[in-house]
Amino acid sequence: MKDVVVLKGDGIGPEIIEATIKIIDTFDLPIKWHYKMAGALALEAKGDLIPEETIEAIKAYKVVLKGPMTTPIGKGFRSVNVQMRKLFDLSSNIRPASTKITLHKRYEPFDIVVFRENTEGLYGGKEYIREDGTAVAEKVVTVEKSRRIMKAACDYAVKNGMAKVTIGHKANILKVADGLFLEQTLEVGKAYPTLTLEPLIIDNLCAKVVSKPENFEVIVTTNLYGDILSDLLGGMVGSIGVLPSINIGEEIAFFEPVHGSAPDIAGQSLANPVGAILSGALMLKHIGYADEGNRLEEAVFELINKDSVMTMDIGGVIGTQAFADAMIDKLNALK
Ligand code: NAI
Repeated sequence: MKDVVVLKGDGIGPEIIEATIKIIDTFDLPIKWHYKMAGALALEAKGDLIPEETIEAIKAYKVVLKGPMTTPIGKGFRSVNVQMRKLFDLSSNIRPASTKITLHKRYEPFDIVVFRENTEGLYGGKEYIREDGTAVAEKVVTVEKSRRIMKAACDYAVKNGMAKVTIGHKANILKVADGLFLEQTLEVGKAYPTLTLEPLIIDNLCAKVVSKPENFEVIVTTNLYGDILSDLLGGMVGSIGVLPSINIGEEIAFFEPVHGSAPDIAGQSLANPVGAILSGALMLKHIGYADEGNRLEEAVFELINKDSVMTMDIGGVIGTQAFADAMIDKLNALK
């Protein structure tokens, strides 16, 4: 029996995570889903964004299927996502973006995987106001985390037969912080003789990605740049609703869509569940069900590209539940 902790999240989170679990359950795998609370609902019900019971379950079972969680803007709240990444040492955020999902016609086909350092950079929570009223946010870059994300990116590139790893940085301006990231990632990359290392200044990298995405394979970068870059790729693929992700450290792994809780469409069955479903496929592969994970991905691609069954954000007409039902029919037909 495999144990998986489920955090449904806020906004559209419960709709897309429930749909994903219903779809995965068609495989009849021995998975025990442990439903726990975190985020806005947990704050309301238990007075805590991440209750102790949730922390214990995550530490015990080590695999989490997660929906997006809302962070109120402004003072008083730290992002529950950022807190969890630190608490469970989820320092590598892996975000694949592929035109295969939506066959978006504006670009040549591309498959890009962003490896984003997930626990430091400008998201370290080190912000303060000086006596003169100036606001300061500290950017933190360590040798250990820079090397860890680069190793993860290079291992992935070699394992998947890729030839190049692009390093996104701004070391021309942030000479100390990004300078260290660049130096360490280049150093780690030397141990992979089959890979070409391509350091690019992040703004130049963005321009190149938008004009010729097919020239990129794996991109490794720091926290904020990686966050922005992956949403950019979401737009290029057709919708951020279709992008999956893994947040992973030495022991614990979270699988979740890239997008947020989308309060503007919550509760209306308008959400695209594909980002959550593909995160579920990555989770299945992680816990030893590679065949089922591949079949889940194939079913998504077939449904969208061959059968033209799509939600509205990528040009279709159906809602979350109808897409999930079509997925279940497809998987049953493929059995
Ligand atoms: P968002 O990703 O929730 O929404 C941006 C736009 O994309 C909206 O128009 C939304 O309707 C659309 N969208 C997002 N997911 C979609 C889907 N699956 N299907 C169809 N359309 C979709 O970003 P926003 O509005 O900036 O953030 C809302 C909340 O989510 C904030 O509190 C933010 O902090 C949180 N957030 C949480 C994340 C997480 O838990 N991993 C990641 C990003 C944001």
